[in-house]
Amino acid sequence: MASIGWLLVCVVTLALFVSGARGIDIFLEWDVAIDTSIKPASADQPVITINGKFPGPLINATTNDFVHVNVFNNLDESLLMTWNGIQQRLNSWQDGVSGTNCPIPPGTNWTYVFQTKDQIGSFFYFPSTNFQKAAGGYGPIRVNNRNVILVPFPKPETEFDLLIGDWFAKSYKERRDLPSNDLPDFILMNGNSPFGNQIYESFTLTKGLTYRFRISNVGSALSLNFRIKSHKMVLVESEGSYTNQITLDSLDVHVGQSYSVLVTADQDTAVYYMVATPTQVDTTAKSSLMGVGFLQYANGHELGSLPTGPDPMDRDFSVNQAKSITWNLTTGAARPNPQGTFNVSNITLTQNFVLQGSKAEMGGVLRYTVNNVSYLTTATPLKLADHFVNGTGVYKLDTFPIDTVNSAPTYGTSVVSGIHKGWIEIVFKNSLDVMDAWHLDGFGFYVVGFGDGEWSSDSRSTYNLMDPVVRSTVQVYPGGWSAVYAYLDNPGMWNLRSQNLQNWYIGQEIYIRVFNGDANPLKEKPIPDNVLLCG
Ligand SMILES: *[C@@H]1O[C@H](CO)[C@@H](O)[C@H](O)[C@H]1NC(C)=O
Ligand SMILES: *[C@@H]1O[C@H](CO)[C@@H](O)[C@H](O)[C@H]1NC(C)=O
Ligand SMILES: *[C@@H]1O[C@H](CO)[C@@H](O)[C@H](O)[C@H]1NC(C)=O
Ligand SMILES: *[C@@H]1O[C@H](CO)[C@@H](O)[C@H](O)[C@H]1NC(C)=O
Ligand SMILES: *[C@@H]1O[C@H](CO)[C@@H](O)[C@H](O)[C@H]1NC(C)=O
Ligand SMILES: *[C@@H]1O[C@H](CO)[C@@H](O)[C@H](O)[C@H]1NC(C)=O
Ligand SMILES: *[C@@H]1O[C@H](CO)[C@@H](O)[C@H](O)[C@H]1NC(C)=O
Repeated sequence: MASIGWLLVCVVTLALFVSGARGIDIFLEWDVAIDTSIKPASADQPVITINGKFPGPLINATTNDFVHVNVFNNLDESLLMTWNGIQQRLNSWQDGVSGTNCPIPPGTNWTYVFQTKDQIGSFFYFPSTNFQKAAGGYGPIRVNNRNVILVPFPKPETEFDLLIGDWFAKSYKERRDLPSNDLPDFILMNGNSPFGNQIYESFTLTKGLTYRFRISNVGSALSLNFRIKSHKMVLVESEGSYTNQITLDSLDVHVGQSYSVLVTADQDTAVYYMVATPTQVDTTAKSSLMGVGFLQYANGHELGSLPTGPDPMDRDFSVNQAKSITWNLTTGAARPNPQGTFNVSNITLTQNFVLQGSKAEMGGVLRYTVNNVSYLTTATPLKLADHFVNGTGVYKLDTFPIDTVNSAPTYGTSVVSGIHKGWIEIVFKNSLDVMDAWHLDGFGFYVVGFGDGEWSSDSRSTYNLMDPVVRSTVQVYPGGWSAVYAYLDNPGMWNLRSQNLQNWYIGQEIYIRVFNGDANPLKEKPIPDNVLLCG
């Protein structure tokens, strides 16, 4: 008996260690609605709340948990929620973008069910269609480590979620109809701005203790430099990867990116400013553009000065910091295997995309383009078209130019094949004069390089193939390029988009269709029972 008992313990322990360990079920009910009384910044502007809150509630999950989110759409228009950085393994059905899901009609509800499989780290959710992200509707997601997985730093005293992002005084409906490159009017910290309701975001610390801040840029356009007066930040995580720890005075967080930093309350008992200021953009026209909040030591009263940061136009500072963010190969993340087990030092590329982001006047309207193709959303989501009619009549696979630029701008429903279990190299080029950031659902990017000017195959000699960080969103500097690798082991229909809301809303996206011909052993999840149909 005793030996069988011992064997059972071993089996259970082993089961906990393998990546298939099943988490718990988390059930959430969300009432998504408009509130005009919040006034984070100015007049009676519509703000999208979840259960009355802006930002929305934290999703606090652990690796491999199943999250059930029953979304009640109480807006006056359709809604989809997407889970930025959550990879939806084998399950693009839950991705919540226009190519995978029918919109949830106003006055109805729909339940997402997804697993935080093999992931750990900091992410966020937001409404993906109708420009609604500009009105809020976003909130933090934490995926915690299972107890059997060691974390490469001591347990912090407390964790704080900090969503920073730009904000406009105009209503999101007005703005989506009038595309413009106006600078945002405010920068919010967890929905607060000192200019509107006069409430500052603040965190209370006890001297001597260390805290984890999970910081995401949930804004529409601006890259932000985040810093805290007199305090260093130790960078430990980027969108689900443990980084080699580096100590920073300030951190650039580009649109759609998430980081964890550790902050130790090692200064005199006082109150310290934390700020988020625009970077890589000339804001002299709006010099007051700054997100402001406080770190308040218990019993601290004295408030010092604002922390100074790098010159916002100092591109070398920003690029060098980006290059210094690397992957800790020896630590385990979601799985016990060290992260470095999955390194790219010796892989063979099977596909190469070179994608140039730009904009064009098309028939008198401004559109954003990828390789001179501006994405046209179809009434029937691509994923449903695949399922029912193999795409017929909705999109034509592989007509998008993956590595050349059309000689004239056109519209297209761009869907390209990604080779299942192949390694893809994607080079993003930015021909605009403002920052861009690119994101792929379903996978992590191994960020191998940044460069200026033209990319050519010679540029590969500058790549970091030793310890590139893995993350879901990479920034692309004006007139420059960023190169990433991804391992396409996740069959599905996956959105590749600009994280800049306006660029995405008017055309800067494509879909990568990863098809698994081999039905055994890992099939895609079947179409959900509660699937919505449309188009
Ligand atoms: C999140 O979940 C973890 C693990 O269950 C728990 O320890 C922690 O207290 C939770 N945090 C919050 C803010 O709910
Ligand atoms: C809508 O909410 C009800 C009540 O919670 C639930 O029973 C139902 O399954 C939900 N519908 C969908 C499509 O998720
Ligand atoms: C990498 O992770 C290991 C194992 O958790 C840890 O001991 C080490 O300090 C980390 N290295 C850096 C540079 O962060
Ligand atoms: C990367 O992976 C290769 C092949 O698995 C391995 O030989 C190499 O040691 C790894 N590199 C590092 C730095 O861990
Ligand atoms: C590196 O790749 C080559 C060619 O694909 C292969 O022969 C070799 O075994 C690989 N080395 C390691 C350490 O994986
Ligand atoms: C489905 O479409 C793909 C791509 O257009 C094509 O290669 C494949 O043969 C089609 N399959 C069927 C069953 O028609
Ligand atoms: C995109 O189309 C425009 C308008 O025809 C053209 O001027 C431009 O050269 C094209 N872009 C490239 C990189 O070919």
